Amino acid sequence: MKVLVLGSGAREHAMCWSLANSPLITRLFCAPGNPGIEEEAECIDLNINNNNDIISFALKEKVDLVIPGPEIPLVNGIIDDLKKVNIKAFGPSKEAAKLEGSKNFTKEICKIAKIPTAKYEVFTDQNEAINYLNNTDVPVVIKADGLAAGKGVVIAQNKDEAVLAIENSFKGIFGDAGKTVLIEEYLEGIEASYFALCDGLTAIPLTNAQDHKRAGDGDTGPNTGGMGAFSPTPNLSEADNEYILNNIIKPTLVAMHNRGTPFQGILYAGLMLTSDGPKLIEYNVRFGDPECQVILTRIKSNLFEAILAAVEHTLDNFHIRFNDEPSLTVVFATKGYPGKYKNGSIISGIKETNNINGIKVFHAGTKKESNGRLVSNGGRVLSVTANAKTMEEARTLVYSALDNIKWDEGFYRKDIGKK
Ligand code: AMP
Ligand code: GLY
Repeated sequence: MKVLVLGSGAREHAMCWSLANSPLITRLFCAPGNPGIEEEAECIDLNINNNNDIISFALKEKVDLVIPGPEIPLVNGIIDDLKKVNIKAFGPSKEAAKLEGSKNFTKEICKIAKIPTAKYEVFTDQNEAINYLNNTDVPVVIKADGLAAGKGVVIAQNKDEAVLAIENSFKGIFGDAGKTVLIEEYLEGIEASYFALCDGLTAIPLTNAQDHKRAGDGDTGPNTGGMGAFSPTPNLSEADNEYILNNIIKPTLVAMHNRGTPFQGILYAGLMLTSDGPKLIEYNVRFGDPECQVILTRIKSNLFEAILAAVEHTLDNFHIRFNDEPSLTVVFATKGYPGKYKNGSIISGIKETNNINGIKVFHAGTKKESNGRLVSNGGRVLSVTANAKTMEEARTLVYSALDNIKWDEGFYRKDIGKK
């Protein structure tokens, strides 16, 4: 089969690296890909936010299955558009991708399916939202309804901060995504992520993980896409995993099926482990990055066969297996990220690092210059991943491996997996 993966991050590198093992795949393409992905797949220069470009390429090359990595093509309806031209695709329809594209939509599903989540109210009028603050305690959480590149959530410590966040959202700093605002109860606890592979009505666990969203050590500094992750998380017991699958994931699939918009793809639940048990903070409709790197370095089953089972609605017969041994990844990012940073600084030592037993370096924002030199080309640049017998060993291994990578303009957190 000919397969096309969409994306260019370390997540997509991990996906291509894992898919490249499959004897069923005769040609693996990735658009646009990156220099690391080039070792696993044929990289194609396509604008993946343009559905027509993807479809033209897929028709020309007779691609059998398209696998999007990031959320934007899913929210843009790429799955629906590919179906119209009879090309199979793995992921939710545009309607089902609302589980990530609209926080209000997800809350409606939570209500219908009785899923434990934070109490909330929704507003399309700024004054009503501000008046409602008289009824809430602080901290209080202010959220833009739509996709806001990870910046749409403010944990307001006092009423003034909450008013400012509401005003900013209605002022349009997130465009239309912020014209509807949710005011949410603040949940206290530890965060964890749970992943499930879904084919409409069946969900099978894709294990769990924990990421580190802040840029600085000790969870300080601005929010990022994720600076490191590990899997599995010791904070979720077997009973918690069962609870999440049966009381959060499965009722969501039933509710989505009943409204005529079944969910197929990867359902990623962001959870708060509160004293009342796990509660849903948000859904994403794809693998997390960097969580994907620590999940796919633990998978024992063939990823492609699992994805095919989801596409063909045969997941109820599929038994997925994971290595019990943990995986941990540290993101090497450009100094300045998630704020302003410069591209084009030279990186070396990746080959040597990849030769270390138990280490895999996934590329994100890298670029190969015409002279063959590897340079930085983005905020998150590498995701250095270790598998070992224990989390502590994986941590030690990853940090000693990072010493082999020579890159003056890079930084990474020193405390991934320490808590
Ligand atoms: P989200 O984009 O919804 O995942 O929110 C981003 C981050 O904000 C989450 O990972 C949490 O750390 C935090 N957050 C969101 N909602 C809540 C809440 N209701 N209570 C506490 N923290 C929250
Ligand atoms: N690591 C968070 C995300 O992928 O959304």
